[in-house]
Amino acid sequence: MNIEIKKSYDELSRFAALEIKKLIDEKPNCVLGLATGSTPIGLYKELVKLHKEGEIDFSKITTFNLDEYRGLDGDHNQSYRYFMDDNLFNHINIDKNNTFVPNGVAQDVDDECKKYEELMEEKGGVDIQVLGIGVNGHIGFNEPNKHLYMDTHIEDLTDETISSNLRFFSSREEMPTQAITMGIGSIMKAKRIILLISGKNKADIVAKLFSGKITTELPASILQIHNNCTVVLDEEAASLLNK
Ligand code: GLP
Repeated sequence: MNIEIKKSYDELSRFAALEIKKLIDEKPNCVLGLATGSTPIGLYKELVKLHKEGEIDFSKITTFNLDEYRGLDGDHNQSYRYFMDDNLFNHINIDKNNTFVPNGVAQDVDDECKKYEELMEEKGGVDIQVLGIGVNGHIGFNEPNKHLYMDTHIEDLTDETISSNLRFFSSREEMPTQAITMGIGSIMKAKRIILLISGKNKADIVAKLFSGKITTELPASILQIHNNCTVVLDEEAASLLNK
């Protein structure tokens, strides 16, 4: 893994946006893998800014999101479809027909997962996958467990993830307990991965991530064997790393 340590969250976001701009300059019809959560919001702001300045044309871009809450449809203001529209897609010239997020209310979940996986393949695979990380080391919604899944699948959220994401919902009853997520295999197939980690509350998991072990109990640790993965940290997230 290549490591980039940036002074601030703004610098981290700018760095990631410029990496994506570089890819789009080289390959205007590239496929982007996108993430949700608070971490990539700064990146999306930068991409919108670059687009408004005439620096990025998204008209030929295809996107695949990592995950979606089971039980929320795209109109729900905490669904990841809503998040993506609100933070990025509504502000750039992307064709929304080319933006894919798993359907959280699909009747046949297995079929939805299978089709999502096939569609990624059909579109030529993901060129850059943006990732955040959960405080428990999850990527997408691949939670720490004895085993991890290869392909897009349905995942039970851990209590830790539910507690951590509860802040976005008005009550625990409203918070979904499952999600559809790309699998570890789907993520690892991306040609390049950019993992963004910001803030003091991620410093512990960052220290564990760089302890030289790979374990399904820390799903992000598998990224160590990807041949083109860049981890971008701000100084707070990097604060417990040995220099
Ligand atoms: C959610 C998403 C992850 C994201 C994580 C961390 O659980 N499924 O993709 O990385 O939140 O979010 P944040 O960036 O808000 O810490």
